[in-house]
Amino acid sequence: MPHRRITITHFLISEQRRLNRTGHFTTLVNDIVTACKMISHEVNRGALAGNLGLAGSENIQGEDQKKLDVLANDLFMHMNTFGGNYVGMASEEIDDVHVISEDTHNDYLLLFDPLDGSSNIDVNIGVGTIFSVLRAPAGVDEPQAVDFLQPGVRQVAAGYATYGSSTMLVMTTGRGVNGFTLDQNVGEFILTHPDMRIPAATNEFSVNTSRSRHWDPAISRYVDECLAGKEGPRGKNFNMRWVGSMVADVHRILCRGGAFLYPTDAENEKKGGKLRLMYEANPMAFLVEQAGGAASTGRQRIMDMQPNALHQRCGVVLGSSEEVQRIEAYYRELDGIAPREAAE
Ligand code: AHG
Ligand code: MN
Ligand code: MN
Repeated sequence: MPHRRITITHFLISEQRRLNRTGHFTTLVNDIVTACKMISHEVNRGALAGNLGLAGSENIQGEDQKKLDVLANDLFMHMNTFGGNYVGMASEEIDDVHVISEDTHNDYLLLFDPLDGSSNIDVNIGVGTIFSVLRAPAGVDEPQAVDFLQPGVRQVAAGYATYGSSTMLVMTTGRGVNGFTLDQNVGEFILTHPDMRIPAATNEFSVNTSRSRHWDPAISRYVDECLAGKEGPRGKNFNMRWVGSMVADVHRILCRGGAFLYPTDAENEKKGGKLRLMYEANPMAFLVEQAGGAASTGRQRIMDMQPNALHQRCGVVLGSSEEVQRIEAYYRELDGIAPREAAE
């Protein structure tokens, strides 16, 4: 019923009233929302706007930037600067932090991956934007990188936009997870997935199996038991999905459960893993935990990690809590911290 629809702005205002908050938070999220709408538009135009292909530049990660990586980054930075909510930003696509010194009336820090899954953009597979909001340390109005290096438990908000068959915004401010779908005709995000929850159990795992020769035995054991299906120790069959865009894989898990694995392995461990802690692992961990799931490196809770570098990477095992706990138990056995437990 159109007249019963709740827009993201109404939702935020009702949250603001319920929590007796200032309006700053609502304007902060609204700036993010507008930026995501603009990125969605550019992603959807794709080849028609000459947005595909390489930008001809490289980022600090040593990755060739796609045109849309750069475009999404510029849009996200511009649209979130004007509102005066942030004293600083950090992006996957820029080497150092970006300080905002004029006309700021708030003390938030914005961290983001402007275009996640960009290896998929040229083949029209779902991509997204991931964001995380921290508070700047008291009295800091010209933040340095060190001011961003806060554990994930300090996030005040986190979320992602997924530019898939529909454009959705999924976010948390620490009171559960809510999903909004963009009504392209009206240009508004509408509440369509209130209070998203991840089932504790699942029969679906998500991993890039081409890396299996590099995996730790704990991961190999977990995946092999899933592949063994009903006749194996898990006593049930498993399905496998791997999109290659973290936003798309995590969104599926928030919708129907699952286990997402991008662990450190023998090949990537010198870099600390593949996924970036500050603007991929931490925001996704916040969302997953708020939806009743778990998020770990396999050996420790992701949101407890004390970051030591802005673009540091970490292992990621997240999703249905029973699966994450199982994998953590396998790591404890591997590390000689616990006896080997048979899979029940
Ligand atoms: P980004 O496009 O921002 O660099 O992120 C890509 C990440 C993540 O989205 C995805 O889960 C992972 O890279 C896929 O890695 P593989 O290509 O090694 O599977
Ligand atoms: Mn990414
Ligand atoms: Mn990216």
